[in-house]
Amino acid sequence: MKWLIVFILTLLVCSYIAWLVYREWLQFQAQYVQRGLAANNWQQRCQQVSSQLVEQSHWQGFRDFVVTRRVVENPVGDIISFYLRPRDELPLSPFSAGQHVTVRLPIGSRVYTRCYSLSESYNPDYYRISVKRADAPAKTNHPAGKVSSYLHEEVYEGAIVEIREPQGSFVLPESTIEPLVFLVAGVGYTPVLSMLKVLVNQPFPPPVVVFYCVRNGSHHAAKDEFEALQTQYQGLHLYVSYSHPRSALDWPEIDYQLSGRLNGQTCLDVLAEISLQPQQCQYYFCGPEAFMTKLQQELAASDIDTSQFHDECFSATVTHQVPLLDAPELSEVVFSSSGRRSEWLQGEDRWLLTLSEEEGVSINSSCRKGSCGSCMTEILEGEVGYLKDPEFLNQKQANHFDTSRYCLPCVCYPKSNRLVLNV
Ligand code: FES
Repeated sequence: MKWLIVFILTLLVCSYIAWLVYREWLQFQAQYVQRGLAANNWQQRCQQVSSQLVEQSHWQGFRDFVVTRRVVENPVGDIISFYLRPRDELPLSPFSAGQHVTVRLPIGSRVYTRCYSLSESYNPDYYRISVKRADAPAKTNHPAGKVSSYLHEEVYEGAIVEIREPQGSFVLPESTIEPLVFLVAGVGYTPVLSMLKVLVNQPFPPPVVVFYCVRNGSHHAAKDEFEALQTQYQGLHLYVSYSHPRSALDWPEIDYQLSGRLNGQTCLDVLAEISLQPQQCQYYFCGPEAFMTKLQQELAASDIDTSQFHDECFSATVTHQVPLLDAPELSEVVFSSSGRRSEWLQGEDRWLLTLSEEEGVSINSSCRKGSCGSCMTEILEGEVGYLKDPEFLNQKQANHFDTSRYCLPCVCYPKSNRLVLNV
């Protein structure tokens, strides 16, 4: 009997303990699930917030930016960098190194737009553009660059400029295994500086050769930045070429490595010296058209496939600068979808893309010289003309490009008194 009572009591105690353990286990499970859900929710929330930020960072049309800093980049003072922060203080959209922004400025009674490459790698707080003042070319009637002069002379810290989201196809390849050769002249260094700042942070950056051509030490811009990159980037070979070095002021091997006008053979000699196969490199040209065309012809003559060439033209302004004989004195241009209209005037030296931007009408663009096709726009009424056949027409994707129905506004003008575009 005594044993039976002990057995029953033991059974009761064990059952009670088992029930306690079971209850704890249920509570633990409930908390675990709750925490898991909370963690998931937290993750989802983080993802939501970051995608909201990315969404907010993009914008349509033009956005106000405040100039927060100006830096003169060379001794002669004809290149100035502008640091630009968004006025709304929201984050900035990421961009690919090498892309440009379109800047819109009211000057006098007219609104002007110009494209400038971003000269820094991505920073969510600010963009940097570096602008060369386009002085009036000697012995010509061409005036000085209106916008670059205005930026240099009138735009200081606190000024507001309007900017479109970065765009452009002059960017680094997706995978950078092949050696890259950059051939740049003057202010054409800007997208390359941005690209180098991206490459230097890659775990295995490719070998890079930069030929940077300037007149002499007084025009040599961003010297410190290039030299700093050279010390950080093991595979970077920088060759500065002065076309007119100043005696006693510019020091060979210290300030510059090459002199005279750069030519294709010199580039090939340098590549051989550092044991790079010219046929295995990708070539990026950035500078005035004449500089790029000459080097491309010389390199192509040495059996380098032109598919290895990538270029971005850096002219002060891409304009026609000659009277357009088949254009009317005045043409009414209607941008049908946006309900805007404008007047194109003979002698104002504007392509239709510039006219649309000045009117606040957004047309996609990239090369702005008629070679990429990204600005292709439908013509609903009227006719357009080109100074010369756009390069895009020679490309495969232009097979179905009907020039009476579509146009490339970056290089065309109205040929009829009224032109209606579907934008
Ligand atoms: S922007 Fe490239 S063709 Fe017009």
